Amino acid sequence: MDVTVELHQWIRAAARLVILSGAGMSAESGVPTFRDAQTGLWANFRPEELATPEAFRARPAFVWDWYEERRARMRDVAPHAGHLAIADFQRRHPGRLTVVTQNVDGLHQRAGSPDVLALHGQIAQDTWLDPPRPCCEAAPPVPGRPPACGVCGNLRRPAVVWFGEMLPARELAQAERAARDCDLMLVVGTSGVVYPAAGLARATRGRVVVINPHESDLDDAADLVVRGTAAAVLPKVLADA
Ligand code: OAD
Repeated sequence: MDVTVELHQWIRAAARLVILSGAGMSAESGVPTFRDAQTGLWANFRPEELATPEAFRARPAFVWDWYEERRARMRDVAPHAGHLAIADFQRRHPGRLTVVTQNVDGLHQRAGSPDVLALHGQIAQDTWLDPPRPCCEAAPPVPGRPPACGVCGNLRRPAVVWFGEMLPARELAQAERAARDCDLMLVVGTSGVVYPAAGLARATRGRVVVINPHESDLDDAADLVVRGTAAAVLPKVLADA
């Protein structure tokens, strides 16, 4: 049987579903996957050397500029048919499908998916580098690269999880509960190399399906592997399910 036909049947039979997405979910929207070769000015830097608190404290303007370039790129991309198929399924079946994403691009949210559990934050949002004092909240930050509190100098930083940082506790707890309780988890577009996110695919009582055009570190945890892309497979298997 065609694996997508089998997957469509599994989806129709599942009462509670989780989608765990990674950068490959956004590839067909034109967003480079995380481990793509870096382009342009950043070609000589690994993201792990930029996306850390230490890198930001050492070179705040340099790291800030990297995020500003990525933010500008995100403004030019849009959700694709796979994102829209997920949101459409959620509209037809309220509360039946939970989206857990490692992506910071906000594309699931822009496609209309409600209550997305963004485990690694959102690149379009900022937060304070150090815990804010009353002065930080009393007035808008002074513009700059990065902006800063005009009184104590506390810096603004992208509201994303950097290497070595903890994931947001509330989102992670909700994701763990959804993974544990679901009947079916679709793991879409992730290499499965970063924990705790990848661990969700090993902590579910439900069936696991990997949707990825290439091999991933979670293939061994899968009950079914669909060698295909997010934009091609998801609309097929989520339609009239
Ligand atoms: P990766 O770049 O590690 O993996 C992307 C995956 O998507 C690969 O397995 C590709 O085969 C697959 N892929 C590529 N194109 C695809 C398509 N059109 N449809 C479906 N799959 C496709 O990105 P992630 O697994 O998301 O963490 O990386 C996980 C985390 O590593 C990121 O969230 C980031 C990074 O450290 C933080 O920033 C904290």
